[in-house]
Amino acid sequence: MINTKQFAYVDTYGCQLNESDSEKLRGMLIEMGYEITYDEFEADVAIVNTCAIRQNAENRVLGNVGELVHIKTPRKKKIIVFCGCLAGIPETVEKIRESYEHVNLVFPPNEIHRFPELLERAKTERKRVFIEDSKEYKIVEDIPKHRDSTIKAWLPIMYGCDNFCSYCIVPYVRGRERSRDKEAILAEAKSLVEAGYKDITLLGQNVNSWGGGFPNLLKDINAIPGEFLIRFMTSHPKDASKKLFQAMAESEKVARHIHLPFQSGSDRILKLMNRGYTRAEYLDKIAYARELMPELVITSDVIIGYPGETEEDYNDTLKLVEAAQFEAMFTFIYSKRPMTPAAKLNDTVSAEEKQKRFENLVTIQNEISEKKHEAYIGKTIRVLVDGEAKGELYPLKARTNGGRLVHVVGDLSIYGSFVDAKITHSNNWALFGEA
Ligand code: 5AD
Ligand code: SF4
Repeated sequence: MINTKQFAYVDTYGCQLNESDSEKLRGMLIEMGYEITYDEFEADVAIVNTCAIRQNAENRVLGNVGELVHIKTPRKKKIIVFCGCLAGIPETVEKIRESYEHVNLVFPPNEIHRFPELLERAKTERKRVFIEDSKEYKIVEDIPKHRDSTIKAWLPIMYGCDNFCSYCIVPYVRGRERSRDKEAILAEAKSLVEAGYKDITLLGQNVNSWGGGFPNLLKDINAIPGEFLIRFMTSHPKDASKKLFQAMAESEKVARHIHLPFQSGSDRILKLMNRGYTRAEYLDKIAYARELMPELVITSDVIIGYPGETEEDYNDTLKLVEAAQFEAMFTFIYSKRPMTPAAKLNDTVSAEEKQKRFENLVTIQNEISEKKHEAYIGKTIRVLVDGEAKGELYPLKARTNGGRLVHVVGDLSIYGSFVDAKITHSNNWALFGEA
């Protein structure tokens, strides 16, 4: 018998929105009759869903796209697809056109709903298919999704971004901000809870500016009966209102965690970045949030080496980090991105200086994270067991309500449930415990 099965492989880079888009790609592929494979050599269709946020992300993706040339065989037509945020940068698309001839189909994030039609074209037409952003910025509901997990689910509530932070490429590749209807969001949340999902993350570049009033949306989802956690990311400090923190505090299913990137501790740099808040406003907001919810976990992002960042600006960032006492922080070295206003500025900070500032900041935050995590030792806390680990010592992975990772000793049968775990030790990035 001839094996007529067709396999598809999806490789995902970048943020949770991209993970969510990949679930849609897999959903559409399954509807078209493909089986999902995790081995690119087995694939008849190999998709790379790319991230454009920093140059090093781009380099890594392009390296791996280059490698995919090896999956092509003379006997069988295989389709290689380049999509996601990098497919929204004209220069990068040009590079793909000229130097990556094995790529058959290119389309940007906002054209994802056209994927079945585009794949068909790539398979039947002799020419390579290059699609540009139609700039229509539609919301297409009812794209099938194939979710990776049966416990944790991504739930996009809005797409695009209108904030235009001066360093950020997202508004150019993901287009104008648009919010899903409340009814569609609530219906999806209900069906996820009914299907047994325990951890639902509301997604958007800027979730708290959701069109219909984000604090009330949290309360509405909280009112859905069942045992589950509601998470959300990412939030923008300018829209992190008292009302938002009050809604979190009143909603027992909303996780006690907020990821609230501050980007810089210098008012001068914040202004240049077009962030719309000052360091004092930021610190006031998190102080208010902790007053309402003493157990709240706050995590953040920071960029160092923005063009023109002086020693003094950098010291302001250090001081903010000391004052804020984040559980965790992601530190990024500024990366010049095409189309952004900051790309026109002179990059004044040398690579060595940036590296020095980066390492120093990471060391300071690691000490803070380590101390924060040590405070959990000896406590018994409720965690959701949401992953299996490779290690023999800790066969399970779990998350606290506040989103901290816990490596757990316990029976595999507790996978997918909320259990009490006694924390025995910790390091700067995780906790360790026994179920
Ligand atoms: N360079 C470095 N870091 C960046 N980020 C966004 N754009 C850039 C850039 N051009 C960081 C921000 C954001 C996180 C997702 O990535 O800190 O919060
Ligand atoms: Fe990367 Fe930003 Fe695109 Fe997410 S939205 S994949 S972080 S560029």
